[in-house]
Amino acid sequence: MAPRKIIIDTDPGQDDAVAILLALSSPEEIEVLGITAVAGNVPLELTAKNARIVCELAGRTDIPVYAGCERPLKRPLVTAEHVHGKTGLDGPVLPDPQMPLAEGHGVDFIIETLRAHEPGTVTLCPLGPLTNIATAFQKAPDIIERVQEIVLMGGAYFEVGNITPAAEFNIYVDPEAAEIVFKSGIHIAVMPLDVTHDALVTPHRNDAFRALGSQVGHAVAEMTDFFERFDKEKYGSEGAPLHDPCVTAYLIQPELFSGRHINVEIETQSELTLGMTVADWWGVTDRTPNAMFMGNVDAHGFFTLLTERLARL
Ligand code: RIB
Ligand code: CA
Repeated sequence: MAPRKIIIDTDPGQDDAVAILLALSSPEEIEVLGITAVAGNVPLELTAKNARIVCELAGRTDIPVYAGCERPLKRPLVTAEHVHGKTGLDGPVLPDPQMPLAEGHGVDFIIETLRAHEPGTVTLCPLGPLTNIATAFQKAPDIIERVQEIVLMGGAYFEVGNITPAAEFNIYVDPEAAEIVFKSGIHIAVMPLDVTHDALVTPHRNDAFRALGSQVGHAVAEMTDFFERFDKEKYGSEGAPLHDPCVTAYLIQPELFSGRHINVEIETQSELTLGMTVADWWGVTDRTPNAMFMGNVDAHGFFTLLTERLARL
Protein backbone atom coordinates (compact mmCIF):
# COMPACT_ATOMS: atom_id res chain seq x y z
CA MET A 1 0.00 0.00 0.00
CA ALA A 2 1.33 3.49 -0.84
CA PRO A 3 2.47 5.59 2.13
CA ARG A 4 -0.04 8.09 3.53
CA LYS A 5 0.78 11.67 2.47
CA ILE A 6 0.71 13.97 5.49
CA ILE A 7 1.38 17.54 6.60
CA ILE A 8 2.56 17.78 10.22
CA ASP A 9 1.40 20.99 11.93
CA THR A 10 3.38 21.35 15.11
CA ASP A 11 4.65 23.39 18.09
CA PRO A 12 7.81 21.51 19.15
CA GLY A 13 7.82 20.63 22.10
CA GLN A 14 9.71 17.47 23.03
CA ASP A 15 6.71 15.22 22.36
CA ASP A 16 6.16 16.87 18.97
CA ALA A 17 9.81 16.12 18.23
CA VAL A 18 9.33 12.41 18.93
CA ALA A 19 6.18 12.38 16.79
CA ILE A 20 8.12 13.91 13.88
CA LEU A 21 10.99 11.43 14.34
CA LEU A 22 8.51 8.53 14.32
CA ALA A 23 6.97 9.82 11.08
CA LEU A 24 10.35 10.33 9.41
CA SER A 25 11.49 6.83 10.42
CA SER A 26 8.47 5.20 8.74
CA PRO A 27 8.61 5.90 4.98
CA GLU A 28 6.67 2.73 4.11
CA GLU A 29 3.63 4.09 5.89
CA ILE A 30 4.12 7.86 5.94
CA GLU A 31 5.26 10.44 3.37
CA VAL A 32 5.79 13.79 5.09
CA LEU A 33 5.00 16.44 2.45
CA GLY A 34 6.01 19.24 4.79
CA ILE A 35 5.97 20.59 8.32
CA THR A 36 4.17 23.77 9.36
CA ALA A 37 5.12 25.37 12.67
CA VAL A 38 2.55 27.11 14.84
CA ALA A 39 2.85 29.15 18.04
CA GLY A 40 1.97 27.03 21.04
CA ASN A 41 4.34 25.44 23.55
CA VAL A 42 6.73 28.30 22.78
CA PRO A 43 6.48 31.28 20.41
CA LEU A 44 6.54 30.70 16.64
CA GLU A 45 10.17 31.68 16.15
CA LEU A 46 11.18 28.83 18.46
CA THR A 47 8.70 26.24 17.18
CA ALA A 48 9.88 26.97 13.62
CA LYS A 49 13.50 26.61 14.78
CA ASN A 50 12.83 23.44 16.76
CA ALA A 51 11.04 21.75 13.86
CA ARG A 52 14.19 22.24 11.76
CA ILE A 53 16.42 20.99 14.59
CA VAL A 54 14.39 17.77 14.62
CA CYS A 55 14.55 17.35 10.83
CA GLU A 56 18.34 17.75 10.98
CA LEU A 57 18.53 15.28 13.88
CA ALA A 58 16.72 12.79 11.63
CA GLY A 59 19.01 13.63 8.70
CA ARG A 60 16.03 14.89 6.71
CA THR A 61 16.89 18.42 5.63
CA ASP A 62 14.84 17.69 2.47
CA ILE A 63 11.62 18.20 4.44
CA PRO A 64 10.29 21.76 3.96
CA VAL A 65 9.56 23.53 7.24
CA TYR A 66 7.27 26.58 7.10
CA ALA A 67 6.48 29.15 9.76
CA GLY A 68 2.73 29.53 10.25
CA CYS A 69 0.62 31.64 12.58
CA GLU A 70 2.29 33.42 15.48
CA ARG A 71 -0.84 33.83 17.59
CA PRO A 72 -4.34 32.35 18.00
CA LEU A 73 -7.28 33.57 15.90
CA LYS A 74 -8.74 35.82 18.55
CA ARG A 75 -6.83 35.48 21.79
CA PRO A 76 -3.39 36.29 23.14
CA LEU A 77 -0.93 33.41 22.89
CA VAL A 78 -0.56 31.15 25.93
CA THR A 79 2.70 29.18 26.00
CA ALA A 80 3.98 26.24 28.07
CA GLU A 81 7.59 26.92 28.95
CA HIS A 82 6.79 25.52 32.39
CA VAL A 83 6.47 22.14 30.69
CA HIS A 84 8.88 22.28 27.74
CA GLY A 85 11.51 24.74 29.00
CA LYS A 86 12.53 28.13 27.65
CA THR A 87 13.64 26.78 24.25
CA GLY A 88 10.68 24.41 23.93
CA LEU A 89 13.16 21.60 23.35
CA ASP A 90 15.04 21.62 26.66
CA GLY A 91 16.92 18.46 27.61
CA PRO A 92 19.42 17.51 24.89
CA VAL A 93 22.06 19.93 23.62
CA LEU A 94 21.30 20.11 19.89
CA PRO A 95 22.93 22.42 17.34
CA ASP A 96 21.06 25.38 15.89
CA PRO A 97 19.55 24.45 12.51
CA GLN A 98 21.51 25.06 9.30
CA MET A 99 18.53 24.39 7.04
CA PRO A 100 16.55 27.55 6.25
CA LEU A 101 12.83 27.98 6.69
CA ALA A 102 10.93 27.25 3.48
CA GLU A 103 9.74 30.32 1.62
CA GLY A 104 6.14 31.34 2.26
CA HIS A 105 3.61 31.04 5.04
CA GLY A 106 2.65 27.68 6.50
CA VAL A 107 -1.04 28.37 5.92
CA ASP A 108 -0.40 28.91 2.20
CA PHE A 109 1.62 25.70 2.07
CA ILE A 110 -1.37 23.80 3.52
CA ILE A 111 -3.73 25.41 0.98
CA GLU A 112 -1.44 24.91 -2.03
CA THR A 113 -0.60 21.33 -1.10
CA LEU A 114 -4.25 20.33 -0.72
CA ARG A 115 -5.10 21.98 -4.04
CA ALA A 116 -2.16 20.30 -5.78
CA HIS A 117 -3.01 16.75 -4.69
CA GLU A 118 -5.99 14.60 -5.62
CA PRO A 119 -8.91 15.15 -3.21
CA GLY A 120 -8.83 12.68 -0.32
CA THR A 121 -5.10 11.93 -0.55
CA VAL A 122 -3.56 14.29 2.05
CA THR A 123 -3.95 13.86 5.83
CA LEU A 124 -3.43 16.77 8.23
CA CYS A 125 -1.67 15.92 11.50
CA PRO A 126 -1.96 18.83 13.95
CA LEU A 127 0.14 18.39 17.09
CA GLY A 128 -0.42 21.85 18.58
CA PRO A 129 -3.05 24.60 18.65
CA LEU A 130 -5.25 24.44 15.52
CA THR A 131 -4.61 28.01 14.39
CA ASN A 132 -2.87 27.18 11.08
CA ILE A 133 -5.49 24.62 10.11
CA ALA A 134 -8.45 26.87 10.91
CA THR A 135 -6.84 29.84 9.17
CA ALA A 136 -6.30 27.73 6.04
CA PHE A 137 -9.97 26.66 6.09
CA GLN A 138 -11.11 30.28 6.52
CA LYS A 139 -8.83 31.55 3.74
CA ALA A 140 -9.61 28.73 1.29
CA PRO A 141 -12.86 26.92 2.14
CA ASP A 142 -12.49 24.88 -1.07
CA ILE A 143 -9.71 22.80 0.53
CA ILE A 144 -11.94 21.43 3.30
CA GLU A 145 -13.50 18.73 1.14
CA ARG A 146 -10.05 17.81 -0.22
CA VAL A 147 -8.68 16.71 3.16
CA GLN A 148 -8.45 12.91 3.52
CA GLU A 149 -8.54 12.97 7.32
CA ILE A 150 -7.37 14.98 10.31
CA VAL A 151 -5.49 13.03 12.98
CA LEU A 152 -4.80 15.35 15.88
CA MET A 153 -3.58 15.40 19.45
CA GLY A 154 -5.88 17.45 21.64
CA GLY A 155 -8.72 17.50 24.10
CA ALA A 156 -9.69 15.32 27.01
CA TYR A 157 -12.78 13.78 28.55
CA PHE A 158 -12.15 11.40 31.48
CA GLU A 159 -8.72 12.99 32.04
CA VAL A 160 -10.17 16.57 32.01
CA GLY A 161 -7.69 19.45 31.69
CA ASN A 162 -3.92 19.82 31.88
CA ILE A 163 -3.69 23.61 31.47
CA THR A 164 -6.96 24.46 33.28
CA PRO A 165 -9.25 22.18 35.30
CA ALA A 166 -11.39 21.79 32.14
CA ALA A 167 -9.17 22.12 29.08
CA GLU A 168 -6.22 20.43 27.36
CA PHE A 169 -3.49 22.84 26.16
CA ASN A 170 -3.79 22.56 22.34
CA ILE A 171 -7.52 23.24 22.39
CA TYR A 172 -7.31 25.83 25.17
CA VAL A 173 -4.76 28.01 23.34
CA ASP A 174 -7.06 28.49 20.34
CA PRO A 175 -10.62 27.29 21.07
CA GLU A 176 -12.09 29.24 18.15
CA ALA A 177 -9.71 27.45 15.78
CA ALA A 178 -10.63 24.10 17.33
CA GLU A 179 -14.33 24.88 16.86
CA ILE A 180 -13.75 25.55 13.15
CA VAL A 181 -11.89 22.26 12.75
CA PHE A 182 -14.38 20.14 14.71
CA LYS A 183 -17.30 21.69 12.76
CA SER A 184 -15.57 21.25 9.37
CA GLY A 185 -17.25 17.94 8.57
CA ILE A 186 -13.85 16.33 7.90
CA HIS A 187 -13.24 12.87 9.37
CA ILE A 188 -11.23 13.52 12.56
CA ALA A 189 -9.35 11.04 14.73
CA VAL A 190 -8.64 12.56 18.14
CA MET A 191 -5.83 11.52 20.49
CA PRO A 192 -6.94 13.09 23.79
CA LEU A 193 -5.19 13.05 27.15
CA ASP A 194 -7.38 10.00 27.85
CA VAL A 195 -4.95 7.92 25.76
CA THR A 196 -1.78 10.01 25.86
CA HIS A 197 -1.63 9.81 29.64
CA ASP A 198 -1.26 6.05 29.22
CA ALA A 199 1.67 6.46 26.84
CA LEU A 200 4.14 7.11 29.64
CA VAL A 201 7.90 6.94 29.22
CA THR A 202 8.73 4.82 32.26
CA PRO A 203 12.40 4.58 33.27
CA HIS A 204 12.60 1.15 31.59
CA ARG A 205 11.23 2.54 28.34
CA ASN A 206 13.58 5.52 28.48
CA ASP A 207 16.51 3.16 29.06
CA ALA A 208 15.48 1.41 25.83
CA PHE A 209 15.72 4.73 23.95
CA ARG A 210 19.18 5.36 25.42
CA ALA A 211 20.26 1.79 24.64
CA LEU A 212 19.74 2.48 20.93
CA GLY A 213 23.22 3.99 21.19
CA SER A 214 22.41 6.58 18.53
CA GLN A 215 22.26 10.37 18.52
CA VAL A 216 18.49 10.09 18.07
CA GLY A 217 18.09 7.61 20.93
CA HIS A 218 20.20 9.76 23.22
CA ALA A 219 18.35 12.97 22.28
CA VAL A 220 14.93 11.39 22.82
CA ALA A 221 16.00 10.05 26.22
CA GLU A 222 17.30 13.49 27.20
CA MET A 223 14.07 15.14 25.98
CA THR A 224 11.85 12.84 28.01
CA ASP A 225 14.10 13.13 31.07
CA PHE A 226 13.41 16.86 30.96
CA PHE A 227 9.79 16.76 29.82
CA GLU A 228 8.61 14.29 32.50
CA ARG A 229 9.07 16.70 35.42
CA PHE A 230 5.75 18.48 34.91
CA ASP A 231 3.58 15.37 34.72
CA LYS A 232 5.42 13.50 37.48
CA GLU A 233 4.92 16.46 39.80
CA LYS A 234 1.29 17.15 38.81
CA TYR A 235 -0.05 13.63 38.30
CA GLY A 236 2.54 11.54 40.12
CA SER A 237 2.87 9.66 36.83
CA GLU A 238 5.65 7.20 36.11
CA GLY A 239 7.15 9.27 33.32
CA ALA A 240 6.55 11.72 30.47
CA PRO A 241 3.30 11.23 28.52
CA LEU A 242 4.16 10.99 24.82
CA HIS A 243 1.11 12.94 23.63
CA ASP A 244 1.94 13.76 20.00
CA PRO A 245 3.62 10.47 18.94
CA CYS A 246 0.17 8.86 19.42
CA VAL A 247 -0.83 10.69 16.21
CA THR A 248 1.96 9.25 14.05
CA ALA A 249 1.72 5.82 15.72
CA TYR A 250 -1.97 5.76 14.75
CA LEU A 251 -1.05 6.27 11.10
CA ILE A 252 1.34 3.30 11.29
CA GLN A 253 -0.59 0.90 13.53
CA PRO A 254 -4.17 2.13 14.07
CA GLU A 255 -4.98 -1.12 15.85
CA LEU A 256 -2.97 0.13 18.84
CA PHE A 257 -5.86 2.49 19.59
CA SER A 258 -9.57 2.16 20.23
CA GLY A 259 -12.30 4.71 20.79
CA ARG A 260 -15.79 5.80 19.90
CA HIS A 261 -17.23 7.83 17.03
CA ILE A 262 -18.98 10.54 19.00
CA ASN A 263 -19.96 14.17 19.02
CA VAL A 264 -17.26 16.56 20.30
CA GLU A 265 -17.96 20.25 20.70
CA ILE A 266 -15.63 23.00 21.90
CA GLU A 267 -16.39 25.49 24.67
CA THR A 268 -15.57 28.97 23.35
CA GLN A 269 -17.73 31.20 25.57
CA SER A 270 -17.35 30.35 29.25
CA GLU A 271 -14.11 31.57 30.82
CA LEU A 272 -14.51 28.82 33.42
CA THR A 273 -14.47 25.94 30.91
CA LEU A 274 -12.90 27.65 27.87
CA GLY A 275 -11.34 25.11 25.49
CA MET A 276 -13.08 22.11 27.01
CA THR A 277 -13.79 19.29 24.55
CA VAL A 278 -17.38 18.43 25.43
CA ALA A 279 -17.28 14.80 24.33
CA ASP A 280 -20.61 12.96 24.25
CA TRP A 281 -18.89 9.67 25.20
CA TRP A 282 -22.12 8.20 26.63
CA GLY A 283 -24.38 9.33 23.78
CA VAL A 284 -26.69 11.39 25.97
CA THR A 285 -27.43 13.97 23.26
CA ASP A 286 -28.72 13.80 19.71
CA ARG A 287 -25.77 15.82 18.48
CA THR A 288 -24.20 14.38 15.31
CA PRO A 289 -21.02 12.35 15.82
CA ASN A 290 -18.09 14.24 14.27
CA ALA A 291 -14.94 12.60 15.66
CA MET A 292 -13.31 9.25 16.40
CA PHE A 293 -12.37 10.02 20.01
CA MET A 294 -9.77 7.56 21.29
CA GLY A 295 -10.17 6.09 24.74
CA ASN A 296 -7.54 3.37 24.89
CA VAL A 297 -3.99 2.65 23.70
CA ASP A 298 -1.90 -0.53 23.83
CA ALA A 299 1.00 1.22 25.58
CA HIS A 300 3.34 -1.77 25.28
CA GLY A 301 2.69 -2.05 21.57
CA PHE A 302 3.09 1.71 21.17
CA PHE A 303 6.53 1.76 22.80
CA THR A 304 7.64 -1.38 20.97
CA LEU A 305 6.77 0.31 17.67
CA LEU A 306 8.34 3.64 18.67
CA THR A 307 11.61 2.10 19.87
CA GLU A 308 11.92 -0.13 16.82
CA ARG A 309 11.34 2.80 14.46
CA LEU A 310 13.68 5.23 16.26
CA ALA A 311 16.38 2.57 15.91
CA ARG A 312 16.20 3.13 12.16
CA LEU A 313 17.39 6.76 12.37
O1 RIB B 1 -1.59 18.92 26.02
C1 RIB B 1 -0.52 18.30 25.35
C2 RIB B 1 -0.25 18.98 24.05
O2 RIB B 1 0.13 20.33 24.28
C3 RIB B 1 0.93 18.36 23.27
O3 RIB B 1 0.75 18.53 21.90
C4 RIB B 1 2.10 19.18 23.73
O4 RIB B 1 3.16 19.21 22.77
C5 RIB B 1 1.47 20.54 23.82
O5 RIB B 1 1.45 21.10 22.51
CA1 CA C 1 2.46 19.69 20.56
